[in-house]
Amino acid sequence: MTNAGILGIGYAVPDGVLTNHDLERMVDTSDEWITTRTGIKERRIANGETTSDLAVLAAKKAIAHARIAPQDSDMVIVATITPDMAFPATACLVQDRLGCTRAGAFDLSAGCSGFVYALDVATHMVRSGPYRHVLVIGADTLSAITDFSDRSTCVLFGDGAGAAVVGQTEGRGVLATYLGADGGQGMSLYLPRERAEAASHKDGFIQMAGSDVFKFAVRIMGDAALEVLRRAAVAPEDVDLFVPHQANIRIIDAAAKRLGLDGRKIFVNVHKYGNTSAASIPIALAEAYEQGRLNKGDIVTLVGFGAGLTWGAAALEWEVPKA
Ligand code: COA
Repeated sequence: MTNAGILGIGYAVPDGVLTNHDLERMVDTSDEWITTRTGIKERRIANGETTSDLAVLAAKKAIAHARIAPQDSDMVIVATITPDMAFPATACLVQDRLGCTRAGAFDLSAGCSGFVYALDVATHMVRSGPYRHVLVIGADTLSAITDFSDRSTCVLFGDGAGAAVVGQTEGRGVLATYLGADGGQGMSLYLPRERAEAASHKDGFIQMAGSDVFKFAVRIMGDAALEVLRRAAVAPEDVDLFVPHQANIRIIDAAAKRLGLDGRKIFVNVHKYGNTSAASIPIALAEAYEQGRLNKGDIVTLVGFGAGLTWGAAALEWEVPKA
């Protein structure tokens, strides 16, 4: 069987920074509350940039890093819950702007698990033969659907995009994936309707039962990571880098504890970006690479959870030589 893995990676975040101190002036909150409950200190907020703008920036870097031409891409998948428009798919806008003229394009909606879902799809497309390179992008501008007068949600989210080129690899590449959903918990985290059609103030913004999502996340992050490692036949102690969805430092710490990982093996950037939804894992992976924390042959575990409620985990052998 053909092996498939990540050949190149990149990320993009908007320049605009919103700190906890800025939020103190907007809602009844404090830097101390946000830091102790979430680990977040600041987040990036788009100032006119759309999801496709950030996706294009991240994807250009991933394409250059993989040393392919845009025309070498056979498919563009954008994982997002904040598409520029209801249709066409954001992936089509991105495909056009990148010049991926030979590629098909579609969006995938799995909340913050979206990148791992798309990575799974891309891996299977490449393994099946006809698709040589699949561009996988996780991109979201949650600020567009965040109520900045609601302190229970507005402190959590930020904007960004991360991208990876998935293609045939000489090494083992993606070892295993594990996707799941519990639609019965879907109303724990949802957007009532498209913002443009919003009938009331509430309809245009994220609704969340924070403590329900928290309990789910703490359980599923550990469960999903252990299951994907079992499928990959990798012992938790053999994981070189754990790259979890960056939603809340307490959720990350609980998952790392379940795996018995020491702090040096866990990548964290939630303090800088908050929860960037589908972009969170690829931004973290790309930053880890940029910081020289990934060596060829390293075993990497990605695990995320999000709206759906969904979860997704992947175990892979890192292919790309050190940054
Ligand atoms: N600043 C100050 N107080 C706040 C606040 C804020 N930004 N947001 C909520 N509160 C208050 C609430 O009003 C509530 O007050 P009350 O006890 O007087 O009613 C209290 O803080 C809530 O405390 P608690 O329920 O103990 O908070 P928590 O420890 O569960 O933390 C979250 C809240 C949202 C940080 C946490 O539940 C969480 O991270 N959930 C997961 C969210 C998530 O990841 N969503 C995206 C999934 S992809």
